[in-house]
Formats: sequence, structure tokens, C-alpha cells
Amino acid sequence: MIDIAAASALAETQIVSQPLALKPKEFATISALAREEFGLELGKGKEQLVAARVGKLMRKLGFTIFRDYYQHVQGDRTGEALVELIDALTTNHTSFFRERAHFDFLVHRVFAEQQAPGPIRIWSAASSTGEEPYTIALTAREHLGVQSPVLPRILATDISTRVLETARKGIYKANRFENGLSPWLRKHLLRGEGRWEGWYRMRPEILGMVEFRRVNLIEPLPDIGRFTLIFCRNVMIYFSRETREQLVNRLAACLEPGGYLFVGHSESLTGMQHGLQQIQPAIYQKRGGKK
Ligand SMILES: C[S@@+](CC[C@H](N)C(=O)[O-])C[C@H]1O[C@@H](n2cnc3c(N)ncnc32)[C@H](O)[C@@H]1O
Repeated sequence: MIDIAAASALAETQIVSQPLALKPKEFATISALAREEFGLELGKGKEQLVAARVGKLMRKLGFTIFRDYYQHVQGDRTGEALVELIDALTTNHTSFFRERAHFDFLVHRVFAEQQAPGPIRIWSAASSTGEEPYTIALTAREHLGVQSPVLPRILATDISTRVLETARKGIYKANRFENGLSPWLRKHLLRGEGRWEGWYRMRPEILGMVEFRRVNLIEPLPDIGRFTLIFCRNVMIYFSRETREQLVNRLAACLEPGGYLFVGHSESLTGMQHGLQQIQPAIYQKRGGKK
């Protein structure tokens, strides 16, 4: 005997779990929107990937027809639909102490050459779920000491309100710390108990060093002042060469003379006009200030 309920549930699963086939016109529509809103380049060859990711998002939101979904995105005044779309199209992958050479440079060069009176200003542009800015804060507190007058103030920004929400909480699973929780790191974290067993929270003094804010890097930057150091890592890979060059110039304008820009190790600035001087792989310096 056929179990009708089970059979229809199965049929439904098959329909909804089928990958969405985006028509060339629909792919072009999504590509144009992503380029305009986030600077994202969804070049040729990305059709299947985009269809899979947009399809998954549509299913989650209960849409079966692309046109209906697109109207939903366009009609959404809160901006949340766009955030969900960018989250689906890009990766928020990040980790503590990612590309460690940057943190060695931070300690041995940036901290070493700072002089009082004020705190160092650092911007983590495209900070994702917060591991990057908190790594800066943890490193600074450990190497400069709690009383240091140059202890950094960190601005951490991202386009995605979803990742910013996670970042603000400063709560992470133990396995997010890839090289384990060394004793020095534990000093700066609160260990969860009971249902929070296996989780860690940044201590209030670490949370207090970081301010999170939404900034879209392809739009004119808000008035955020000047920085000694800007981390802009693993986001430019999504942008066209032209958008990258414009962004690097806008970031350079936000650097103090002698300040540094860190980019991802796979994001070369070779061939771009930017006026910064490369001093190590993925590390650039603005002329002026101290050498
Ligand atoms: C791969 S993560 C990089 C995180 C961190 N910088 C690192 O290197 O580990 C890329 C981040 O860029 C953000 N992003 C993508 N387009 C953006 C834009 N136009 N403006 C600001 N952030 C953007 C995404 O939301 C995502 O969180």
C-alpha cells in the first residue's frame, strides 16, 4: 500500500531541492544588482554557483519563481533582503590570527614604533564575524599591556548586518581558535558554563576596544577619520580591478602619513595606481611620517 502522505512529502522535497536553473536573463539581472549594490563581480562560469546559492535562499524564503523573489528584493525598504543576498553570494569565512604574518608585523613594527600620546586607530574593513578585529585587540592587550596609552581603538565594519550582529556578541566556539587556546589567550576570555560549555566570550575590556558599524566599501566612505593601520583583507577578491583600484585609493586617503594597509595575501595591488609603497607581501605603507 502506498503511504500517500509520505509520497507527497517526498515529491515536494524533490521539487524544492532541485537546483534552480537561472535563465541567462535572470543571471544577468542578479549580476547587475550585485555589481551595483556591493561591487561584486559574478563573471562568466559562475552561473551554476549563483543559481545554487540564490535557489537555496529562495527556498528558505518560500519563493519558487525568480521574478517574485527579485520583486521582494527590490521592494524591501529595510535592506535586509539585500544583506541576505550578499551573504548568499559571498563567503564570510574568517578565523582568529588568519594570515599570521600580519600580526607579527603589528607587534614588531606597528606597536614598536608607536609613541604616545594617543591610542592607535585601526580599521578592520570587511571584518565579517569579528575574529579579525578581536585578534587585533587580543594581540594589543597582550603585547602593549593594559596600561599602555597607545592601546588601539578599533573600528570594525562590514556590509552585512548579520555578521555584525554575531561579531558584536564576541562569543565563539572553542574550535574557532584554530591553534588552540593558549594560556595567554585564555586570560582575555570568559569560559562558558552549563549550556555554554565549549564556548568563550571576549572579556568586556576586549569588547570595549572594538566598535562595529555597517559600511559598504564601494560607496563613498562616511567620515570615519584617519587610521594608523587598515586591514582590508579577503574582500577585494570579489571586486573588479577598477573597483579595487578606487577602493585602495579611498583607503589610502584614510591612512595617516606613514600608516599601513594590509590586504589578503592573494590580493595583489600590482599594476594599480595608488601611491602606496609595498614593504612586504600584502603590506603597503603610505609615504611620509616615520620610516
Ligand atoms: C571572506 S570575509 C573576510 C573577513 C576578514 N577580513 C578576513 O580576512 O578573515 C569577506 C567579508 O566582506 C564582506 N563584504 C563583501 N562585500 C562588501 C562590501 N561591498 N563592503 C563591505 N564589506 C563587504 C562580506 O560581508 C564578508 O563578511
